[in-house]
Amino acid sequence: MKLFLPLLLAAGSLAFLAPSKVRAPLVADEGKGGEQRGPLEERMHAMEDAIRALRRSLRDPSKQADSLASLAKLEADIVAAKSETPRMAAKLSEAERPRFVADYRGEMIRMLESALVVEKAVLGGKQEEALAAFEDLRGLEDPSHARFTEEEQ
Ligand code: HEM
Repeated sequence: MKLFLPLLLAAGSLAFLAPSKVRAPLVADEGKGGEQRGPLEERMHAMEDAIRALRRSLRDPSKQADSLASLAKLEADIVAAKSETPRMAAKLSEAERPRFVADYRGEMIRMLESALVVEKAVLGGKQEEALAAFEDLRGLEDPSHARFTEEEQ
């Protein structure tokens, strides 16, 4: 009985070392319909959220801090998305794939550049410039989806 208590305590403290069963998924999450989303899709949805928030905050100069926070999120998501590979790449031939992936990356760089132009304008308190650059950024969505996703093919 003298030994029992220290053993029980030791076993209890070791339990903290056991791997957690409630880990978040690393690369994929579920969409609204329960379908699995890939890592790029996840980033795209996060970008969409940041852009939606920006559409509101950019119109109101008193919301500069909100705009800067959304831009920081958007830029981080673009950087992460830039290193992913669109699903469509798997359907292309070996010969076509490298060009496709490089073009995708180049387009994401263009989007990052646009986000930085918006950020610079917001920091300088230039609302008209910020709104114009934001329209340029949003204009990249449709042509890019037409080119790099299967839905639009
Ligand atoms: C305003 C900017 C953008 C927004 C708001 C946006 C949003 C989205 C959303 C919501 C999806 C998921 C669609 C779904 O669930 O059915 C998606 C997918 C996708 N987007 Fe974008 N996007 C933007 C710009 C771009 C750009 C610039 C590129 C390419 C350089 C791009 C490439 C893709 C690709 C390849 C997919 C499919 C995901 C996959 O292949 O796994 N998007 N986007």
